[in-house]
Amino acid sequence: MNRRTVRINVGKGYDVYIENGILSHCGELFKKSAGNTRAAIITDSNVANLYLEKVASSLKNEDIPVESFVFEAGEKSKNINTLTSILEFLAENRLTKADTVVALGGGVTGDLAGFAASVYFRGINLIQMPTTLLSAVDSSVGGKTAVNLSSGKNLAGTFKQPKAVICDPETLLTLPDGEFRNGKAEVIKYGILFSKELFDGFADGAKGKDIGETIESCVAFKGKTVENDEFDSGERKLLNLGHTVGHSIEKCSNFTVPHGFAVAAGIAIVARAGEKIGITQNGTAKAIENVLENNGLPIDSEFSVKDLVSAALSDKKRDGDKITLVIPQKIGKCILKDLSVNDLEDFIDKGKKY
Ligand SMILES: NC(=O)c1ccc[n+]([C@@H]2O[C@H](COP(=O)([O-])OP(=O)(O)OC[C@H]3O[C@@H](n4cnc5c(N)ncnc54)[C@H](O)[C@@H]3O)[C@@H](O)[C@H]2O)c1
Ligand SMILES: [Zn+2]
Repeated sequence: MNRRTVRINVGKGYDVYIENGILSHCGELFKKSAGNTRAAIITDSNVANLYLEKVASSLKNEDIPVESFVFEAGEKSKNINTLTSILEFLAENRLTKADTVVALGGGVTGDLAGFAASVYFRGINLIQMPTTLLSAVDSSVGGKTAVNLSSGKNLAGTFKQPKAVICDPETLLTLPDGEFRNGKAEVIKYGILFSKELFDGFADGAKGKDIGETIESCVAFKGKTVENDEFDSGERKLLNLGHTVGHSIEKCSNFTVPHGFAVAAGIAIVARAGEKIGITQNGTAKAIENVLENNGLPIDSEFSVKDLVSAALSDKKRDGDKITLVIPQKIGKCILKDLSVNDLEDFIDKGKKY
């Protein structure tokens, strides 16, 4: 057994267990974290085909009664209707306050199941079992949950910390290449924010040293940031590196550009602009471009500066007449900078290549 454990000291605190093959014996960890409770596994149609049986049988081996709810895979399911169906499912199966929701899947599953666990009976136990790189390094830790509304992404949500996160890196072997690259953008983001070593591990486009070790580093960085700022009023904003411009790109493309790809372009744009205004060390933007390109990620966007700015100004992260951007100083260190809405256009323009 080669288990890595990261402690997250938010709320009552919880452990993130990372181990190849851990899903086949997740029942033991479920019991350790949630006690003798029933389990309601929430998962999507793709992940159900691949891993539901494995998780359910490990839980049953530990005499844990299991119910499961499968929804159609994809971001379009992350809405109030699916949330309602999950809540009705929990109620029909008479899950009680003492029982546990298991989120088995990517970020869409984690956000939906986490939301349901936070409001059903005003909150029941939650265990996250991430199966995408993005959910392993990002969404399964930190406690944000959300659904999309017609007016925009993630507009309704709650904070709900899990009892445990059980992460099996072996599940990433079945992940489509595009989804893997999506997650890599977030890993590279952590490198630029916190660690040159992590960043350099992706220099040649390889999968990073050991993917379990990479996940452990990212989770530890996210954990520390969230510990210092659980409710997103200060330091946690750093995790938005590349996301303001990235969200604009996603919006302008009507969400056909995947999140990680949009964030990658957003990071490169901000780094080039950062160099031009003298915040970012010379050479940093080029280093970022190289790593992103070697990992099959974009470094710019075809949308006009005007379109990107107007999409950014309708973003929920806007705070009055200023917008907070995350700008790299060098690899491993970034700062928050407030820009007036009027200066944003000029800033993005400096970062665009074409
Ligand atoms: N709560 C947070 O802090 C947070 C942070 C970042 C992103 N998010 C949210 O996460 C979502 C994106 O997450 P995602 O990229 O994991 O998307 P996702 O959950 O839709 O998963 C991507 C695709 O991969 C499939 N899949 C999942 N695991 C697989 C596996 N092991 N093998 C094969 N296929 C597999 C899924 O069925 C889906 O089709 C967005 O909705 C975003 O808003 C939340
Ligand atoms: Zn992201």
